[in-house]
Parts: sequence; C-alpha cells; structure tokens
Amino acid sequence: MRTAEKQSESDSNLKNKTASSVYIHIPFCATKCYYCAFNTYTFHKAQAEAYLQALRTEIELYASEADLLKTIFIGGGTPSILSAHALARLFVDIRSNFTVSPDAEITVECNPGTVDAEKLSVMQNNGVNRLSFGLQAMQDETLKQLGRIHTVPEFLHSYHLARECGFKNINIDLIFALPEQSMEAWHHTLNEVISLEPEHISAYNLVMEEETPFYEQWQAGKLHLPPEDTEADMFQHTIETLTGHGYMHYEICNFARSNHFAKHNLVYWNNQSCIGLGAGACGYVNGVRYTNIRGITPYINKLRQRNKPISDTEHLTGRAEKAETLMLALRKREGISLENYEHRFSEEIEVAFGENLKKWVDLHLLEQTDTHLRFTDRGLFLANEVFVELM
Ligand SMILES: C[S@@+](CC[C@H](N)C(=O)[O-])C[C@H]1O[C@@H](n2cnc3c(N)ncnc32)[C@H](O)[C@@H]1O
Ligand code: SF4
Repeated sequence: MRTAEKQSESDSNLKNKTASSVYIHIPFCATKCYYCAFNTYTFHKAQAEAYLQALRTEIELYASEADLLKTIFIGGGTPSILSAHALARLFVDIRSNFTVSPDAEITVECNPGTVDAEKLSVMQNNGVNRLSFGLQAMQDETLKQLGRIHTVPEFLHSYHLARECGFKNINIDLIFALPEQSMEAWHHTLNEVISLEPEHISAYNLVMEEETPFYEQWQAGKLHLPPEDTEADMFQHTIETLTGHGYMHYEICNFARSNHFAKHNLVYWNNQSCIGLGAGACGYVNGVRYTNIRGITPYINKLRQRNKPISDTEHLTGRAEKAETLMLALRKREGISLENYEHRFSEEIEVAFGENLKKWVDLHLLEQTDTHLRFTDRGLFLANEVFVELM
C-alpha cells in the first residue's frame, strides 16, 4: 500500500498538472568552449541587462502556473558571469513572483573563474544551497584544448571559496573520452576530484555536437578521439572508481554521496512538470512540452510585447508520453517504478512495450526487480541503442 504522502506526490506530479520546479536559462559565457552546443553567446553587459529585464517579464507571465516551488535550477551558459547586483535582482524577481518552499533545492551553475565572494554571498543570502561547477578535466593543457577560460588552480580557488562561503552541496561536471585523452589522464582527473570530496559528480562522455569547432576539426580528420573500446573502459573505470569511493551511481552520468541526489534533475528523469524560462529553455507544463525562441534579440522583442517567447509546442500524449517517461526513467540506475507508471497511465507497462521489453530482457540489457524495470550493468553501456529503438 502507498502511504498518503507518496500517493499525493504521485497525484500532483506524475500526472503533470502542476509545476513545482523552475529552470532559468542564462545564455551567456565569457567565450564559447570548442565542444559546446548549448544555447549560449558571448557576454555583453548591456545585452545581459536587457535580457534580464525580459526574463523578469517572462517570470511574471508564468507566476500563476507554478505551485509551491521545490526545485529551482539556474543554468546556462554561465549564470555566475552575471554581476552580484544582477544576480540579486534576479532573485528578487523569482521570489516576488513564485512561492519558494523553505527547503527548496536551489542550484546555480558556475564556471570556475567567474565567481567571487560577493556573488557567492548573494547566492547564499537568497537560499542557493547547491552549486554546480563545470571543471571537465584536471590538466591545464586539456582545459586549454577544450577552450575553457580557467586553469586548474583557478578552479581550485573557486571551489575552496565556495566551501569557505558555506556551500555544503557542490557538484563538479567532468567530461571523458576527450581528444587524445589517455586512461591515465582520466584516472588522474577522477582521483583529484574525489580528493576534494564534492557531494555530487557528473561524468559525461564527450558528445561531438554539430556546428562546434570540435565537430569541424573532427570531420576534417584533425581531432583524434579515443576508440569506442577505450570510451567504454573509461565509463567502466568511472563507475568502479566513484562507487569505490562512496558515490552512489544513481543515473547514467551522475554520482552522489548519500542524500545529495540532484532533486531538480530527478524531476526531468521522472518526466514531471517544470517551467522553463529564458532563451532556448524547454518546459513541460500541463502535459505540453515547449521550447523557447533561441536568439537573444527575438526573445527580448517577444517579451517587450508581454507575449510568451515560445517557438515550439508538443502536446505529449499516448505512446509518445509513455515512451518518453520510460526512456527518461531508465536513465536512473533504479530504473522505472512499475507502480508509478501504472498510476500515471492506468495500465501496465507491458501493454505499450511488452514486445520491446521482452526482447531487451532476453538480451540481458534490462532486468525486472519486484518494483522496477532497470538496465543491467551490461545494458547501461548500450543504453543509447535502446533509446533509439524506443523513439
Ligand atoms: C551547460 S554546461 C554549463 C556549465 C558551465 N557553463 C561550465 O561549463 O562551467 C553543463 C555541462 O555540460 C557538459 N557538456 C557541455 N557540452 C558537452 C558535450 N559536447 N559533451 C559532453 N558534455 C558536455 C559540461 O560538462 C558542462 O559542464
Ligand atoms: S561548456 Fe559551459 S562555459 Fe563552455 S560554452 Fe558551454 S555553457 Fe559556456
């Protein structure tokens, strides 16, 4: 039997009628990293001010669509490139339009080298209780090759400053399978990061995104990536090393010390509602998935007329919603809760996916426990192939 608390969580969130999460996109960076395809542009102060004014209008337009907020994620781009004053103003806009739960998880993405004590104290004073630093690698020459703006010592300075300011929940983003990267270099990065004892580590394999300098160099044969076998070995090594040091592997790319799972990201993996704000942001409200206009100027212009800056919408229903729910939940190491699926769709998971599931279980890519359906250790390495078939 479900407890009353669990039942009400399922009712309000799993059916996607309300949003208790907000994502806010800050599409500015000092410069663009060579591998990155996120919607982000070179920072200009005047443009950022106009953008934040437009964002204020967008926040007002969505005020009535939010429940009590349990998670807020300010991502980018580089939110920490904003001045302390601009950050403080953004929090005024958030708090004067939304009701934020006292125990809400509030995360800000920070690029090493762009934080200082003043910005960190603005975040602290406004309830930010989780920081996410993009580090990527622990070798200066690699950071340079990636087009990062910071060195390893600059990252360490930002990280320790955040600790001194009292942040007790810090994530570090890393990327493996980088051009020319050896297993030794990746091993070194992992161990140096572990020695800092962050509460959370995200370890992504490099994705070659079209229209990035890396992609062009790769197409021209000038960039040499580790072979697929090495990439798989690096992933295996990541899992063994991090779990060996007390990190729980709770999502394909994410590892956390106990009680430090990223609550906001779990909203995505549970396919629950989230209001997305900012240029290029995606949201999912009342069963509708929407994407905002990507360009800064058209985004600002739309909001000057007090119109929502949405460019695409998709009403997610039927098999598409089921497939997306399955695919996202399978990213979690525990897999998809069969009870939650049945509660959300009023049918057993086999009704829509029986044949696929049987095939993957027979191939030992998926396994069923009493309560969940999840990837096997082997299946985890072939997750993308499974997702492609599901789409
Ligand atoms: C949207 S970025 C924001 C973080 C922050 N701007 C920074 O880079 O320090 C979040 C993370 O996505 C990851 N990422 C971006 N592009 C990637 C790619 N092409 N392949 C793999 N990971 C990528 C990086 O680890 C990055 O830290
Ligand atoms: S990885 Fe981060 S800092 Fe680099 S361009 Fe992308 S969003 Fe900006």
